[in-house]
Amino acid sequence: MAFGIKKLTPHFVGEMTGVDMRKLDDATFAAVKRAWRENQILVFRGQHLEEEALVEFSQRFGALETHVRTEYLSTEHSEILYVSNIKKGGRAIGILSDHEVGWHYDQIYLTQPAVGSCLYAVKLPSAGGSTYFADMSRAYETLPAQMKNKIDGRKAVQSYDYFNQYNSVATSSEQKKKTPDVEHPIVRTHPMTGRKALYICPGMTTRIVGLSEDESRTILKTLFDWCVQPEFVYRHDWQYGDAVMWDNACTMHRRDPFDEKSERLMKRTTILPPAELSVPF
Ligand code: OGA
Ligand code: MN
Repeated sequence: MAFGIKKLTPHFVGEMTGVDMRKLDDATFAAVKRAWRENQILVFRGQHLEEEALVEFSQRFGALETHVRTEYLSTEHSEILYVSNIKKGGRAIGILSDHEVGWHYDQIYLTQPAVGSCLYAVKLPSAGGSTYFADMSRAYETLPAQMKNKIDGRKAVQSYDYFNQYNSVATSSEQKKKTPDVEHPIVRTHPMTGRKALYICPGMTTRIVGLSEDESRTILKTLFDWCVQPEFVYRHDWQYGDAVMWDNACTMHRRDPFDEKSERLMKRTTILPPAELSVPF
C-alpha cells in the first residue's frame, strides 16, 4: 500500500498511513524524514515492533542515546528506555510510573539535548495516560511583538532536579551530578529547518537569566499559559501498536495520570544530535 500523510491538526502532527516501520525502502524513509520535519510530530498506527525493529527504525534518524536512568533500560537493547508503572519483584521497570507528567522538553537540561524520540505503545491502561504535544514553533510565531521583544536574545535556566521535584521523583546524587542546570536561548532556532520555537517548559525552566525573580516569573507564567492554548495542542489517545515520534527542538509534551492498578508499558528510543552539529542552538 502506498504511504500517505494525514494532518491531525491544522498546523502540526501528521499521521503516516500505509507504512510498516519494519520495512521502509530508502525513498519511503526519506519521505518519512521530510514529513517529520514538516509536521514536527509523526503518528504511526498498527505497528508490530519487536525491540530490534524499534531500534533499527530509530537508528536511521541518527545515533541513539543510552538514557541516564540506566535502571530503566531494556536489558536486551540498551537503546530502549521503558516508560512504565509495571513493577517486577517490587522494582519499577520504567520511568514516569502512573502519575501526571508535567509539560516538558526531553533533556532540555542537557547542553546538547536529543533531537527527538520515538515512543511505542506495548501495554495500555483502560483509561487515562493520554499524551499531549504543544507546537512551540507556532506558539512563538503568534506571540505579540511586545513579548517577542522581551524574550528575543534572552536565555533561561533549565533544571532536571526541578523536574524531578515537581514530579516527586527521587534522584540519586550521582544522577544529579550528571545533570547540572544549564542555560539555553528562550527562542531556539531549529538546527535543520531554521524555524524559531519557544524553548522553555513549565516542568524544567526555572528562570530567565538577567531579569528579577518577579519579572522572570511573570513572563514565564504568561508564556506557559500561551503555549498550552488548545489551538497549539494535540492530544494523543494511545492505541496498541501506536508509535509517536516528536521533534524535540520545537514541541514539548505532557502526560495524563492513569489508574495505578492498570499497567502501561511504552518503549522509547531517543535520537542524539548529529556529530556535525556541535552547536545545536
Ligand atoms: C517520555 C514521556 C510520556 C508518556 O517518554 O519522554 O514524556 O506518555 N512520555 O509516557
Ligand atoms: Mn518526555
